[in-house]
Amino acid sequence: MPAENQNTPPRRALVTGAAGGLGREVAIQLARRGCVVAVADINGEGLAETIRQIGETGAEGESIVSDFTGEGAPEAAVDKVVARWGGIDILVNNAGYGVIEPFLDATFRAWTRTLALNVTALAMACKAAGRVMREQRSGRIINITSPGSRMALPDYTAYTASKAGVDSITRAAAVALAPYGVLVNSLAPGMMDTEMQRSTEVDLARANGRDDLQAFLDERTRRIPLGRRAEIAEVAEAVVWLCLDAPKYMTAERLNMSGGLDKD
Ligand SMILES: NC(=O)c1ccc[n+]([C@@H]2O[C@H](COP(=O)([O-])OP(=O)(O)OC[C@H]3O[C@@H](n4cnc5c(N)ncnc54)[C@H](O)[C@@H]3O)[C@@H](O)[C@H]2O)c1
Repeated sequence: MPAENQNTPPRRALVTGAAGGLGREVAIQLARRGCVVAVADINGEGLAETIRQIGETGAEGESIVSDFTGEGAPEAAVDKVVARWGGIDILVNNAGYGVIEPFLDATFRAWTRTLALNVTALAMACKAAGRVMREQRSGRIINITSPGSRMALPDYTAYTASKAGVDSITRAAAVALAPYGVLVNSLAPGMMDTEMQRSTEVDLARANGRDDLQAFLDERTRRIPLGRRAEIAEVAEAVVWLCLDAPKYMTAERLNMSGGLDKD
């Protein structure tokens, strides 16, 4: 697949949490648009499949198997991209973790793991990529948040609190990097039937004493104003738009791709 414009070098992207779900789809769509794409995830097997699919587009890919909750891991991933391609133009912070846990049964372990990935690792990745982008005087960062960040979900509080943290980091990073022409925005996907979403909803049904899973899922789908769940590909298209096409005056923005679930 040729780069979009033969005269410009390919844009260099890093997508985290790209062993499946939304991250894989974003990585493949960026590759189809002519970017070179590094993909990072704790799941090496899933990453190998993503790399295979990136290869099918004709684009270069780089696999970074890493637990992003480790100290220095996000920075090391950015370093790897810079070492291979000499810079980084796009960072998509997509890796995410969440666990259903009733508020009054909250555990230190669940909160620590959730915040370590969704908040701390995301902030460190923004910092590391932001430092390179500051020198380049260009770059775009997209953080994946959630409609949940503005909801009261007592069975999912660590996750929703972590995504409120993502919104906060997005605003701060956008202001910190604005003087250098680096854009930072976020995107809130609606309900997509990925591995993460399905296992979360199975646990949520159980926590609510529901054994009629399909009826429970249907009720949740009916709450979406557009009346259906999001296709992973259509959400990825919006992420790629933020990465490559959104106007250069747009920063600190939160884009809702939730079928009307999130209205602010
Ligand atoms: N699926 C939905 O309906 C939905 C809705 C709103 C927001 N989101 C957000 O979208 C993003 C993608 O989620 P998804 O639905 O594609 O789920 P997913 O489970 O397919 O993707 C998450 C990825 O993060 C990786 N990951 C988990 N822990 C990691 C760690 N410690 N280090 C590195 N990688 C790690 C996983 O291996 C996985 O590949 C997440 O940030 C999620 O919170 C999803």
